[in-house]
Amino acid sequence: MDRKIVLLGPPGSGKGTQTERLCADLKLTKISTGDLLREAVRNNTPLGVKAKGFMDAGKLVPNELVVDLVKDKIQSVKGGVILDGFPRSLEQAEMLDKFSKVDLAIDIEVNENNLVRRLTLRRTCRSCNAVYHLEFNPPKHGGKCDKCGGELFQRTDDTEKTVRERLKVYKEQTLPLTAFYHRKGILRKVDGEGDIGVVYDRVLKAIGSK
Ligand code: AP5
Repeated sequence: MDRKIVLLGPPGSGKGTQTERLCADLKLTKISTGDLLREAVRNNTPLGVKAKGFMDAGKLVPNELVVDLVKDKIQSVKGGVILDGFPRSLEQAEMLDKFSKVDLAIDIEVNENNLVRRLTLRRTCRSCNAVYHLEFNPPKHGGKCDKCGGELFQRTDDTEKTVRERLKVYKEQTLPLTAFYHRKGILRKVDGEGDIGVVYDRVLKAIGSK
């Protein structure tokens, strides 16, 4: 599969979870701006130092720090790509159109109360970025990643206060993207409630792989 697929949906809707499965099954490459930015923060790079304050506050990182990161990555990848967390505003979507085509945008819809519950109990692997949920998708061995044995941690932006701010930012800046991709005729909406596997089947159908 050689397509560029954008995953839309609010924080906690399961973009990262579904991306992991899609990449493994369909041999797609993941480009996650959240993962790339967190890696920069961890490595204390100049980009990471500038991005950290925005991320901890639940705000979007300015375009000049994010767009080139995606552009370089997309241009270095051969084959199909899943964009998780980019674009995040109309401005970013218009910038993306200038350097890459988008074939499909999948919008994962989940009720707001469930989003807060999902995010505040999420744990993430420090080494491979795999995501778990203490209740819905718990790791088998306590605080270690099932896949790579890496340490699991709670993201600094997964506190209830910051999650609420991220949801507000999502509604104001990212939600308008659904209309943008709808107008282009490439938007597919997916019900993101229910078991991870059930949602995955819906995503595969939306992509046309089931
Ligand atoms: P980013 O990392 O992209 O975070 P996000 O969009 O807020 O999305 P999340 O990663 O929180 O959620 P998700 O939808 O991937 O859900 P997940 O699969 O983990 O961005 C973080 C920050 O970076 C931003 O706030 C911003 O500052 C900055 N940033 C990133 N991109 C940017 C950009 N383009 N421009 C500017 N700034 C940018 O699932 C969540 C939890 O739910 C997990 O615990 C999971 O196990 C569980 N779960 C998943 N599916 C289900 C299910 N079906 N049922 C029950 N539980 C489930």
